[in-house]
Amino acid sequence: MKLIRMDTVDSTNEVAKALIAEGAKPWTVVVAAKQVEGRGRHGRRWASPRGGLYFTVANHEVLERLPLVSLSAGITIADVLDREGVVSTLEWPNDVFVGSAKIAGVLTEGLTRPPVYWGIIGIGVNSNSRRSEFPRVLREQVTTIRRELGREVDNDALLKALLQTFKENYPSRGNEVDLLERYRKRCGTINQKIAVKTPGGVIRGRAVDISPAGFLIIEREDEGCVEVAEGTVMDVA
Ligand code: BTN
Repeated sequence: MKLIRMDTVDSTNEVAKALIAEGAKPWTVVVAAKQVEGRGRHGRRWASPRGGLYFTVANHEVLERLPLVSLSAGITIADVLDREGVVSTLEWPNDVFVGSAKIAGVLTEGLTRPPVYWGIIGIGVNSNSRRSEFPRVLREQVTTIRRELGREVDNDALLKALLQTFKENYPSRGNEVDLLERYRKRCGTINQKIAVKTPGGVIRGRAVDISPAGFLIIEREDEGCVEVAEGTVMDVA
């Protein structure tokens, strides 16, 4: 594993892509103290004030496995938060919440650099950032580890724990069933009536399970089940 530390970047996912273009090795990790164009899923912004933890893991992958890799990143964050004493739940696919406030998120992207396909897994944790540094509209919707524990955490130690746990949780032949079982236990979306905004439109129904590939299975009224590969859970109906 090669760890590259930076101070201010646009987005660690973008830095990782540039490093891949320059011939990076698998398990290259980029961590930054601050992002000025931090990105969230579906084109949203990810507020990245100083104090938070922002990093990206770039690894050789196969396209079909990315959803599972992404779920394992979510499990990893929840596992590490548990050990810090912060109880969280995952909202499919990998938004990490404490109650109704978001504490961490994962942005997974893929990149082809023939003959290799890369998984780019960006993880943002609101660790020591302060809510007052977030855009006003977000302040009530986010929380931080500092706020939950009433003290700061060591971002370096947190990064080390996250990387080690991510390696342990990383999908590899044989651990997928266990991984999915652990994900299901942590996922607050399952058994909820939900509306999911997908690229093909809004799907409403009851989230019933996660498929072996990591997709959300939604049971629609009178229309049977549908598997959703990507989307945003909008609300609990
Ligand atoms: C989300 O919840 O929408 C995903 C947030 C992912 C944020 C991380 S921070 C490190 C990496 N760089 C980015 O620009 N985004 C991800």
